[in-house]
Amino acid sequence: MAKDYKKLLPELDQSKLPRHIGIIMDGNGRWAKRHNRPRLYGHRAGSKSVRQVMELGVELKLEYLTFYAFSTENWNRPKDEVRGLLKLLKDHLKQEISELNRQNIYLQIIGSETGVKPDYLQAIRALAAKTHENTGMIVNIAFNYGGRLEIIEAIKKLEPSAISELTSEKFRQYLWTKDQPDPDLIIRTSGEHRLSNFLLWQAAYAEIYITDVLWPDFDKLEMIKALRDYQSRNRRFGGLG
Ligand code: IPE
Ligand code: IPE
Ligand code: MG
Repeated sequence: MAKDYKKLLPELDQSKLPRHIGIIMDGNGRWAKRHNRPRLYGHRAGSKSVRQVMELGVELKLEYLTFYAFSTENWNRPKDEVRGLLKLLKDHLKQEISELNRQNIYLQIIGSETGVKPDYLQAIRALAAKTHENTGMIVNIAFNYGGRLEIIEAIKKLEPSAISELTSEKFRQYLWTKDQPDPDLIIRTSGEHRLSNFLLWQAAYAEIYITDVLWPDFDKLEMIKALRDYQSRNRRFGGLG
């Protein structure tokens, strides 16, 4: 498998890589069902894909990766699944910190504080903080993330007097992704054609790549396919390109 992706690497134009990629990691439940296993087994398998994509990101010297790990709507799932997802995220972070440090990855948790137990939030943020000396790729884990809530919370941070002078450039500084470029590419696995509240503001001109591959089956090879597809696009940004 490792060989397969290395074969495709030379086909990528290094000068035309996206600076920021957002990933909607979908299909864990269906993957588990296909394997006759409980949904959490699928989520656990999905964390291996996260590792693969991060590794390739470092190999390609990508600047920013954002993983959609848990949405503001995912609280509507059965309690056991929510509990399992939260535990998995924390355990996974704990387990990966030394590898992240080895790869010089700066990891941060983005999302709302609303509705999350403070000690949980504090625990995952403290784990992420262990990577904050690193100077390489920046990885955002979008947890309790919702694009609409991000915009509402940004508006609440605005001074009323700032509103009449507000511009897109100023507003973006109030978002959880402040100081980061918009995603150039958004990948969604499992064949669903929707954003599901992911990076609504930032995705204005993102290229969208959808694959039927379920997230636990997504690997470096699949990521290169996405990048190859991205490089074949003509980004016009409303102009004539
Ligand atoms: C994505 O997989 C993981 C999260 C949303 C947390 P799903 O759990 O949505 O898997 P499907 O869509 O049911 O297959
Ligand atoms: C989007 O997947 C959220 C994450 C990947 C964290 P969902 O499975 O929750 O989205 P819908 O319900 O299919 O739109
Ligand atoms: Mg899903």
